[in-house]
Amino acid sequence: MSETAKASKRILSGMQPTGTSGLHIGNLEGALRNWVRLQDESTLYCCIVDWHSLTTRYADTQQLWEACLILAAEYIAAGIDPKRSMVFIQSQVKEHAELHLLLSMITPLGWLERVPTFKEKRELISDKGEGDESISYGLLGYPCLQSADILLYRPLGVPVGKDQAAHLELSREICRRFNHLYGPVFPEPKSIISEVTAVVPGLDGRKMSKSYGNAIYLSDSADVVADKVKNAFTTTTKLRKTDPGVPETCVVCQLRRVYDPEGYSTSWDEDRAGIRGCMQSKKELTEILNTALEPIRQRRAELLSDKGELENILKDGADRARETAVETMDLVRKAMGLR
Ligand code: TRP
Repeated sequence: MSETAKASKRILSGMQPTGTSGLHIGNLEGALRNWVRLQDESTLYCCIVDWHSLTTRYADTQQLWEACLILAAEYIAAGIDPKRSMVFIQSQVKEHAELHLLLSMITPLGWLERVPTFKEKRELISDKGEGDESISYGLLGYPCLQSADILLYRPLGVPVGKDQAAHLELSREICRRFNHLYGPVFPEPKSIISEVTAVVPGLDGRKMSKSYGNAIYLSDSADVVADKVKNAFTTTTKLRKTDPGVPETCVVCQLRRVYDPEGYSTSWDEDRAGIRGCMQSKKELTEILNTALEPIRQRRAELLSDKGELENILKDGADRARETAVETMDLVRKAMGLR
């Protein structure tokens, strides 16, 4: 696709820097792989949303910068090309804050209070007995800030998972409300649902999630991966090699399907037929996973070994992202009667 055709197809997505453990393979297969693919047909803005992480983790910010650098290294190691795409930190493009402020004026309180993730977080906090004081104004405004992240680049779409559907719907509502009040500034961002992403089960059979402690991380060494796979859940009724397996409910078989789409079916047949044991499946999976993850691991380590260079990449990404952000803010201010 020509550069000009690509430029008009802007796509934005973002992730929170959640900590120094970085991303797990659920993030990689469920989101990042799709972003990487989108680079061929669109201009991709890959945001690291550090302000969003402050909506709950505001008290301990010691490791925030480090977490941002790790996330940047992981985006790039997974295949985001920082020359073609904008890899940047939200707080380095201040226009996000200005647009957030202006959108907050036109966002009805009720819309924010009804967002399921806000209700969940509120319940979680009150369950922990932390009281109302830890629910901040910023947390309520989380989806409004997310709307600003998105609309700032007037993108065609946003690649999102199911968990973000409510947030994106709210962004579209805010977008319509803005256009209705001040004229058509923003195209309505579409949700881009991908064919390439896979749902990755965690090692205990639940969804892979940092908070469940059931994840395989991009930062895990080959030995750690081997250990985690060794302890993963398989079919509970398959105690001996000759017992029939149920690959549909076996974590090891499911991971094999994600990482060995061509070859997995034979292993599944053997598992069902009771001619292969879980140990063999685990050994093979470990090898397949480590082969797939090793180049990412290496690139990640390389990038993190030169933080100065990584910071330059991020600064360059922010500078290029800002070009579009500044254009949008000119349109927004004019539409709203500001100068
Ligand atoms: N809420 C998103 C998440 O938790 C992160 C996010 C912030 C985001 N701003 C965004 C995602 C803009 C897509 C677009 O995953």
